[in-house]
Amino acid sequence: MIDDFPDGAGLPGGLLLRSPIPEDQRRVLAVLDVWWAGFGGAAGSRERSLLLPRLFFQHFTDSSFVVERPDGALVAFLIGFLSQSQPEVAYIHFVGVDPALRRRGVGAFLYQRFFTLAAARGRTRVRCVTSPGNAASVAFHTGLGFQVDPGDAATADGVPVQQDYDGPGLPRVTFTRILTGPQEER
Ligand SMILES: CC(C)(COP(=O)(O)OP(=O)(O)OC[C@H]1O[C@@H](n2cnc3c(N)ncnc32)[C@H](O)[C@@H]1OP(=O)(O)O)[C@@H](O)C(=O)NCCC(=O)NCCS
Repeated sequence: MIDDFPDGAGLPGGLLLRSPIPEDQRRVLAVLDVWWAGFGGAAGSRERSLLLPRLFFQHFTDSSFVVERPDGALVAFLIGFLSQSQPEVAYIHFVGVDPALRRRGVGAFLYQRFFTLAAARGRTRVRCVTSPGNAASVAFHTGLGFQVDPGDAATADGVPVQQDYDGPGLPRVTFTRILTGPQEER
């Protein structure tokens, strides 16, 4: 999938884009706490690590990305897939960017790459979720054209939340972005 875009052109500073391999899982797990700045404390840390079992680095690699510096250091990842059950939907499961490289367009680049891939495979909607209180994530997603789905509660900032979305005591903010068609296929 990334063969038509092998070198990460468009990324800042000579960064390189490729598909993940199983050995990347431990590298991604190793950065989660630092990149999420301990968001959610010990429970948040455990939740995040359990969200990335090895299977994502084995069976979802064609629609996922890692970004590295020329020296091989990991600086970003996106784990996504095409829904098996909803033929119009593509889903972004997890994304992270090294704090040292934030606000330089790396996250937006990865999302645009995923939009392009999803549109080329006939998907018309991209969906994803984040944790209530992750204001940067909400700003990032809405900035990229996602709408927050309706909720049954709201954060202090008024962001709609779906309580118990991922299980008891696991609320989520959920997002949907419409893919507008061929123009996504850049
Ligand atoms: C969310 C995250 C992936 C964004 O990555 P990034 O590479 O810094 O994002 P970009 O530089 O592409 O930002 C694109 C736009 O999103 C918005 N945005 C991104 N981060 C923002 C922030 N902290 N506050 C407000 N707006 C933000 C802005 O509109 C930005 O455009 P601008 O910089 O021109 O104003 C990154 O902050 C991150 O890894 N956070 C920790 C992990 C996480 O929360 N992941 C998402 C939930 S799974």
